[in-house]
Amino acid sequence: MRKIALLTSGGDAPGMNTVIHVVVRSSMAYGIDVMGVERGFDGLIKDEMKLMNRASIEGIMQRGGTVLKTGRSEEFRTEEGRLQAVKNLKLHGIEAVIVCGGDGSFNGALELSKLGITVICIPCTIDNDMGYTDYTIGFDTAVGTVLDAVSKIQDTASSHDRSTIVEVMGRNCGDIAVYAGLTVGAECVLIPEIPIKPEAVCQKIIEAKDRGKSHGIIIRAEGSDISTDELADLVYAETGIEVRKVVLAYVQRGGSPSMMDRLRACLLGHEAVKLINEGSESAAVGIKDDHPIRIDLKEAVDTPTICNLKLIELSEHLSK
Ligand code: F6P
Repeated sequence: MRKIALLTSGGDAPGMNTVIHVVVRSSMAYGIDVMGVERGFDGLIKDEMKLMNRASIEGIMQRGGTVLKTGRSEEFRTEEGRLQAVKNLKLHGIEAVIVCGGDGSFNGALELSKLGITVICIPCTIDNDMGYTDYTIGFDTAVGTVLDAVSKIQDTASSHDRSTIVEVMGRNCGDIAVYAGLTVGAECVLIPEIPIKPEAVCQKIIEAKDRGKSHGIIIRAEGSDISTDELADLVYAETGIEVRKVVLAYVQRGGSPSMMDRLRACLLGHEAVKLINEGSESAAVGIKDDHPIRIDLKEAVDTPTICNLKLIELSEHLSK
């Protein structure tokens, strides 16, 4: 029986469990055994893996988080750690590893591939910060969570005539802020990719107020070059308008995956297993124009990331 390993690594993302479900199901159809590795790369080093079956994936497709657990392994950054992982994989007769995660996990996977292990990566992160793919799994659900939260904030903010800064995740990528900002009708969207002009932010809030909107929403990506506290203080100092602050944080990582994230998990989970079945070299799978793609792993890691700047332009246009 052919055997592969499956692990989830880095920050969890809604849809990781769907990927696990799909990889196990698809492998069964090809007659391939799946060893589920616990806690990401740490589980490879510590040899914490077990054979998965129908019972291990029962009822997980719609659940957020990852039943395999996840982590950011310090030990795997050392050569010693990686060699131990390879030793364990060989001991189990595992021919390839599927890694689900973001850029840190892809870098770890690339190091593993340099030691002769075939690794197929699936982009799972809420940040949408992997340039080679249009979307990462988890992003759509995270933006949906932001939309839901902002709509609740708008209810109370409009009742009090208050403006609010909503801080969203995304690390160094502004996509969560960009997609959410556009679709909630934010007055202002602040992202790491564009240097912030504080005067322009104040101006927009004043203009919104002059137009009769006293409960403006500013969406600020966590990686932006001015902190939420600094921005709130500055707006108050410059305009006399008091703004409330909401940091959405980890709520963006939880919840049942959206239809789009489940769909992408189905396409990419299956694509990854198909690649292994065909005897592929190490690679990454992704989405381009709604279709699954395959790309060399190094190329995937080296592709620069840029958030969707066209949507920022549209957002600016619509907030005038
Ligand atoms: O990469 C996903 C993410 O949620 C980022 O948006 C955020 O900056 C980071 O992980 C938080 O990491 P941790 O779980 O280590 O606090």
